Order: sequence, then C-alpha cells, then structure tokens
Amino acid sequence: MPLSYRAAASLLFLLPALFAANTPGFNYEEASVPPYSLPDPLMLIRGTPVTDAATWRTQRRPELLEIFSREIYGRTPGGRPSQMHWAITSVDRAALGGKAVRKELTVWFTEKKDGPKMHLIIYQPPGAPAAHTPWPTFLGLNYFGNNCINADPHISLSTAWMRTSAEFKVINNRATEGTRGVHASRWNVEAIVARGYATASIYYGDLCEDRPEGLTRDVATLFGTGSVDQRRPDEWGAIGIWAWGLSRALDVLNADPEIDARRVAVHGHSRLGKAALWAGAQDERFALVISNDSGAGGAALSKRIFGETVERINTSFPFWFSTRFRTYNAREASLPVDQHQLIALIAPRPVHVASAEGDPWADPRGEFLSAHHAEPVYALFGKKGLGVKNQPAVNQPVLGDGLAYHIRTGVHDITAYDWTQYLNFGDKVLNR
Ligand code: GCU
Repeated sequence: MPLSYRAAASLLFLLPALFAANTPGFNYEEASVPPYSLPDPLMLIRGTPVTDAATWRTQRRPELLEIFSREIYGRTPGGRPSQMHWAITSVDRAALGGKAVRKELTVWFTEKKDGPKMHLIIYQPPGAPAAHTPWPTFLGLNYFGNNCINADPHISLSTAWMRTSAEFKVINNRATEGTRGVHASRWNVEAIVARGYATASIYYGDLCEDRPEGLTRDVATLFGTGSVDQRRPDEWGAIGIWAWGLSRALDVLNADPEIDARRVAVHGHSRLGKAALWAGAQDERFALVISNDSGAGGAALSKRIFGETVERINTSFPFWFSTRFRTYNAREASLPVDQHQLIALIAPRPVHVASAEGDPWADPRGEFLSAHHAEPVYALFGKKGLGVKNQPAVNQPVLGDGLAYHIRTGVHDITAYDWTQYLNFGDKVLNR
C-alpha cells in the first residue's frame, strides 16, 4: 500500500536526523559532546595568571589576538588605505514616507574609481540631531546588496556579483528589482529609526565575494592575498576581509557629524555574525558587538563539537578562515584558544549573543557557554557579565552587565523579537 502523503512527509522530515547521526562533520547529540577543557582567558602563555585590567590590556589581550589571527581567522594585513576616499551619492531627508533620512555613499579604497569599493547606506531618524547628540548607530553587513534591507524603491540596486538565488530574486549572479526588501524583516529599519538610532549597512560581496574566487578579487587585491589553497598559513580569508570592511565603514561613519561614532554597535547574522565578532575583537572603536546565530567560528565553542564542526566548516567554506585553521579539523581539543576568548577580547565593551531554538547547527548552548566563560574578563573590569550560570529558557532574555544573551523560539534568522532585545540592550549600554 502506498504511503500516505503525511507519512511520506514525516519520513522526509526524519531524514536530516538520520543523516546527522551517520555523517561526520556535525553532531546533534548532547550525549556525544566529549569531555573538554577550555583554555583560561586569564592565564598568560608563560603560565602567570592575570589579575588586573592593565595586564589584560597590555599582555593577555595582545597574546590572544595574535593566536586568533595566526591560527583561526588569518592576519589582517593593514588598516585604512591611505588613498581611501568617499562621496555621498544621494540624500533624502524625507525617506520612508518622512519617517527617516536616507543617505547613500560610495567608498573607494584606492585613488581609482574603478578599483575596489563599497557602498554604504544609512537610515537615521528624521530631522537633524542636536549637535551634542548625534545618532547612536547599528552597523552590519548584508547578504543581497543594500537594496535588500528595505523595500524602499529609491535604494540603488547593487550591481556587484551575488549568489544566484531564486528565493531572493538574484538571477545570473545579479540583483534584480525583485531583490528589493528581501531581508527587510532582518533589518527592521523602521523600528530601529523609531527608537532613535541610525542603521547602516554594507554589502559583504562588495568586499569579498562569498566564493573561493573572492580571495583574488576586490579588497583581497589591495593586499595581494593568495588564492584559497595557495595562501600562507596565517593569511586572512573572507571573514577577515568582511571584518576589515566593517572597520572601514566605521571610518566613514566617524566623519559624519550626524553619527556618533563612539556609539556604534556592530552586528551580524550567521557567517556575518562571525565577521562582526572578529571586527569587534580587533577594532576597539566598536561600542557594542552583536552576534546573531553566528555558530561555528563565531560565538559557539569549538571544543564542544556540537552542531557544525571545525572540519565541516573548513571543508564547506575553505576560503572563510586561514588555512592554518584546517590543522584543527577533527582535532578541536588541540586548539590553543576557544571562542569564549574571542568574546573576552571585546571586554569590557558589551557583547550580545543570540541563538534560536531551532538552530542546532549553530549550537545555541555552545553560544551561551562562550558568553558565560568570557565573564572572568568582564569581572576584571568590575562587570558581572551575564550573571546567570545556566542557559536562560527560550524567550527569557538576560540583559546583564556587559554581556547579554537570549534564545528565542524559531529558526536560523533575525526577527523582530531579536531586534527588540538588541534595542533594549542598546538603550542600556549605548544611550547613556
Ligand atoms: C552555513 C554554515 C554556517 C553559517 C551559515 C550562514 O550553514 O555552515 O557556519 O553560519 O551557513 O551563514 O547562514
């Protein structure tokens, strides 16, 4: 007798679980998490404990940054290029039906107009801010061009290479009119602006295309980056380049008198959450760092081996991290650092880590534990951190002292619920 539609559907539903159990490279079983020990963020390599903030700043933080650069993300080869320049290409002070000001800028990384460049979009509350209170700002990378963050028909459509996607109306690797606003729910522009913040975005593909070829194009060419497998072991990859672009966007925001560059939150979802954390760890100008479902190589602990593993991510995306990171494929225990120390690198600046219940690939518990195990470094600065020992229940956000965490119902995404928590934490830590 043929299977009913419903029975067939539930069998299909089970397939990922069967696949998970038998395929190396990820783990969905809490019982299979091996015993692991985390490196102490407060122990210098030479074995001396760090007991004060000054030693953290001058000795331990540089040590950890060096390890993350050399072993995981690759070294950032330079800062702001000397010839970098930009221009405002459009301003509408009555955008979104008068609810916002929209500004578009182009940033050229060299003197050449046909060289590597990125487009920056800013929405801010209407009216001019009082001279003494420029807008605090949320800055993040987007997946489908600045046109994806809102259906506003006046946003310039990206002409850059983009991953073809029927769902997001990207045809032959180019954005189409249909790409407008496809991630509007993830950006929540109106809600952010209504709360008295600006929101700024850049397209990650302007910096480094999300494919192996990206490492020999655009920003990578400024630094002579090698190709995916031909890089020196500690050369950067796409995540390093995306993080670099966030810092360049901050350079530009810093020159805008309507933006308060001392109150910029850098945020990102998933692979772009990894980039946001790495940007925030390196660049101390970011006042708040937000990781939305960043998972492996982001907020999730590697040594737990839950969800996506080091080997899996290095195999699926061999151009995201340094080639040295591959040394730890299936050898997580030998990693000299883990991701709680990435969060600690941001201390005492605030970090908000968020997970989704239906996102085991990103290891929600491992994301929580990273924030939790960063606490000793916040304590050095007199901050409590999360202040809870156990992972909070779903939809019970903890907005602590320097650290925040929430896990919500639903899948891998950024939702209005996530934004409500980020804005609440932003009010607490940015709106002083
Ligand atoms: C893949 C990848 C993750 C990543 C995610 C995303 O699932 O394995 O590491 O976070 O893509 O960026 O959406």
